[in-house]
Amino acid sequence: MIWRDDWSFGAGDMAESLTITRPTDGHLHLRDGAGMADVVGHSSRVFARAVVMPNLAPPIVTTGQAVAYRDRILAALPPGSDFEPLMALYLTDATPPAEIRAAKASGAIVAAKLYPAGATTHADRGVTDVGRIAHVLSEMEACGLPLLVHGEVVDPAVDIFDRERVFLERVLAPLVERWPGLRVVLEHVSTREGVEFVGAAPPRVAATVTPQHLLLDVNDLLAGGVRPHHYCLPVLKGREHRQAVARAATGDSPKFFLGTDSAPHARSRKECGCGAAGVFSAPAALEFYAEAFEAAGALDRLEAFASLRGADFYGLPRPAGTVTLVREPWEVPASCPFGEDVVVPMRAGEAVAWRVAAGSEGG
Ligand code: DOR
Ligand code: ZN
Repeated sequence: MIWRDDWSFGAGDMAESLTITRPTDGHLHLRDGAGMADVVGHSSRVFARAVVMPNLAPPIVTTGQAVAYRDRILAALPPGSDFEPLMALYLTDATPPAEIRAAKASGAIVAAKLYPAGATTHADRGVTDVGRIAHVLSEMEACGLPLLVHGEVVDPAVDIFDRERVFLERVLAPLVERWPGLRVVLEHVSTREGVEFVGAAPPRVAATVTPQHLLLDVNDLLAGGVRPHHYCLPVLKGREHRQAVARAATGDSPKFFLGTDSAPHARSRKECGCGAAGVFSAPAALEFYAEAFEAAGALDRLEAFASLRGADFYGLPRPAGTVTLVREPWEVPASCPFGEDVVVPMRAGEAVAWRVAAGSEGG
């Protein structure tokens, strides 16, 4: 990591530029088709690679489908990009253990994702009961394929704000205990209880952290009017939870690493009577994290969080090349092309303090 504060001005010794190893996005939705071609460049411009979520319609449930999807992503990349899509398999009640072996052997698939059936976008074919995938989890444990978890119960008796906490008690704690060799990522951790669970768990249990759960709370969703572009799942929680998530991400535990969960939906699907869940952060994701880390006085840990811990968790080599962030305010676009429609990014039309310098891609 290289600090450049030699031309700092004003407030003492604030860093004016920061160069870090190219980051890894541990959780990214790219969709498919024309929409994918429109959004993938936002991520490939900055990130060396990303774990690509499999919740397409229909979902990516076989190794063959994952490899074909990866090829479509590679074909949609801007010319010259060496961005690496790391694929994840979508688990269903019917996933055969042999599919896990095929996934591992393919070299293209780095994880399998547990969506509780009905928990979120295109999760209708997800898992209805962990007991039904017991043999699959044993196979993943045996062959070293990590399990990524959307950690929310779908029990309608549980309030939406409690769904992560109750999932930890009912599902994740027993799962971590029953498969003692399984590596597990609690995706998009959103609660104090989630942070505490991961912190107290063995080193094989980690969590990804999104920019929205670091920077926003439920007031940014609901106070003064409903802001549909801040609606995501897990839903934004109260201030206390955001602070716990921020402390974990900006602290020195290797268990918390970057996963944007950037999830584009067409504007017409967000600004309507029943809006879809998802925050599209890709156009300024690393910059948002830089803001949060600066606010916590932890810019010196941004590289570990963004570029090192996730790669280490997945056992991947640290990517070559660097990106440079400069303190240079700019305005996030009001909208970005997305197939036939547009998608409204996080902080649309507003300023961000940091900018990724052009030409950072090398490596
Ligand atoms: O907000 C979300 N959007 N949460 C998810 O779990 C899925 C994602 C999506 O695919 O849109
Ligand atoms: Zn997601």
